[in-house]
Amino acid sequence: MNIDLREHWWIGPVEIPGRLVLAPMAGVSVQAFRRQGRRFGAGLVCSEMVSVAGIQHRNERTLGYLRVGRDERPLAIQIFGSDPGAMAEAARMVEAAGADLVDVNFGCPVKKVTKTGAGASLLDDPDHACRLVEAVAGAVSLPVSVKMRRGVANGSRTCLEVGPRLVSAGASSLTLHPRSARQMYTGTADHSLTAELVSLVDVPVIASGDITSRARAQSVLATTGAAAVMVGRAAQGNPWVLAHIMGDDAEPSREEVVAELVLFMRETVRELGEKRAFGFLKKFYGWYLGHGRFPRPFKQELVTLPSLEEVERRLFAAAPGARLTLERLLRDLPDPADEVVLDSLPISLYGGG
Ligand SMILES: Cc1cc2nc3c(=O)[nH]c(=O)nc-3n(C[C@H](O)[C@H](O)[C@H](O)COP(=O)(O)O)c2cc1C
Repeated sequence: MNIDLREHWWIGPVEIPGRLVLAPMAGVSVQAFRRQGRRFGAGLVCSEMVSVAGIQHRNERTLGYLRVGRDERPLAIQIFGSDPGAMAEAARMVEAAGADLVDVNFGCPVKKVTKTGAGASLLDDPDHACRLVEAVAGAVSLPVSVKMRRGVANGSRTCLEVGPRLVSAGASSLTLHPRSARQMYTGTADHSLTAELVSLVDVPVIASGDITSRARAQSVLATTGAAAVMVGRAAQGNPWVLAHIMGDDAEPSREEVVAELVLFMRETVRELGEKRAFGFLKKFYGWYLGHGRFPRPFKQELVTLPSLEEVERRLFAAAPGARLTLERLLRDLPDPADEVVLDSLPISLYGGG
């Protein structure tokens, strides 16, 4: 059976134009990544996890994560924290920022987060997890979604107990990454749990974990009954995997790869400022230029160059036709000024690029 990935579905009143979702990834899911994901076929994109403590303290960098472009929508902004009042306040900011969904993180396995009682550790405290979802759902009119792991310990099936309770507490959708927190990213995602979760709740479930091809996306959708599949690592520096999953098998030319990378670099500079973007972008060179697209020494050389201007120059030297491809891309993009930005955000955010 071939499942139509272009079929629309709904989270509460929010219409999602396709069954492919781009995963939230800290240190990756900047606005440029999300915009690109939408262009390549994702029906829904998500911000990386945003600290509610940072929002509460009006940390400038944190507030920068609340910048929403119209061409990203529908967009979820993901928050993490452990205090119901702070979560509710953060959710109100997310709503004011123009997001379509508030996503709550019950999946992050990193110690820095779990030791504060947030992320995946909440799966071991379902009562508190439900209080947080209730607080968020009560604070906004947007639908609330929750992203979680299977549980904390290896082999845990906690998600099957907690999931239905989170729905009763107000979650309009659940995303399951069926690895334990302890597993981090080792082993494989056990989507038989996703199928069990689907059978237990009456809200859409998104399947996350190891979706790397159209065949895998189709088989996970068919065997779990999930509403959508989410793609994370496979899309890092490789938006073409999204197009492949959606049915377009064309391999990108070197010119297209360079044009997309340069566009990504320029948008990231606009978003983070030149200084932050310079370091942030280094990991993307290997991701874009890998897959046998460019020789390894070329990727290594880019990381050693002293400025982004220099990186751009080297990229265009390696694929001169990319300038034209980039011009075409830029012509089709919406006006960068067309953004919804919270009035209360510090003005220096605009100076971020
Ligand atoms: C670098 C990185 C950062 C991540 N950051 C987040 C995050 O901020 N919030 C979240 O819910 N999941 C996060 N995840 C988990 C992904 O959203 C996804 O569930 C996981 O990578 C499994 O999907 P994949 O096999 O398609 O990568 C992150 C994963 C990676 C690799």
